[in-house]
Amino acid sequence: MQSPLSIAIDGPASSGKGTVARMVAHALNLSYVDTGAMYRSVGLRALELGIRTTDGPAVGALAASLNFAFSWDGARLRVAVDGEDLTKAIRTERVGQAASDVAVLVEVRAALLELQRELAKNGAVLDGRDIGTVVLPDADLKVYLDASPEVRASRRRDELAARGDHRPLEAVLRDILARDAQDSGREHAPLCAAADAVRIDSTHRTPQQVVTEILRLAGQIGGVSAPTT
Ligand code: CDP
Repeated sequence: MQSPLSIAIDGPASSGKGTVARMVAHALNLSYVDTGAMYRSVGLRALELGIRTTDGPAVGALAASLNFAFSWDGARLRVAVDGEDLTKAIRTERVGQAASDVAVLVEVRAALLELQRELAKNGAVLDGRDIGTVVLPDADLKVYLDASPEVRASRRRDELAARGDHRPLEAVLRDILARDAQDSGREHAPLCAAADAVRIDSTHRTPQQVVTEILRLAGQIGGVSAPTT
């Protein structure tokens, strides 16, 4: 029997990783692991508990204590932490920033690393910032998905507006650039493409077009037949 596929999809905020990773996982009958949701959950819990998001030992201990459960409800991935559904609560901009803040801390990264590897054990699509470089350096396929900052900001603005959070494009762009800088500039597991990652630019492509490209690449590596559509 063929060993299960592991696919790493990394890239900056709103490059389309989540949508694409979910669709690829579905097409290949693999599980999808949203590692950003873990960092977001840690960030949210730190804010709720009044733990400073710069306090490595305290936030690291918090991250290690959380029990994550992912489930698929037919439309989206649901994230529960210690039995509480946080799917919606982790999607705010404030929590996104807190996630990026706690993601700088080596204690937090160490606490989440083994869990992420464990979830990938039986084959999975993982998306994040350091999947191809740190979490799964031997992934069967690594993709680095990017898009122009303007297009990413406009996607994020629409996503927030759909949730009732209406923000000017310039403000969203500013936040995205600040988060990119923090994620790329940090010491531990910075956002960057693995040397053997395939780079895909989604600026002028639909999610389906990106998925088709990834399935084609997956078909080349594992004897998996990619759909012809
Ligand atoms: O949704 P968006 O692309 O903005 O971000 P996300 O994937 O939900 O991740 C939120 C934050 O978690 C990022 O800005 C990163 O700082 C951090 N993160 C990380 O450091 N490593 C990962 N593997 C995933 C997320």
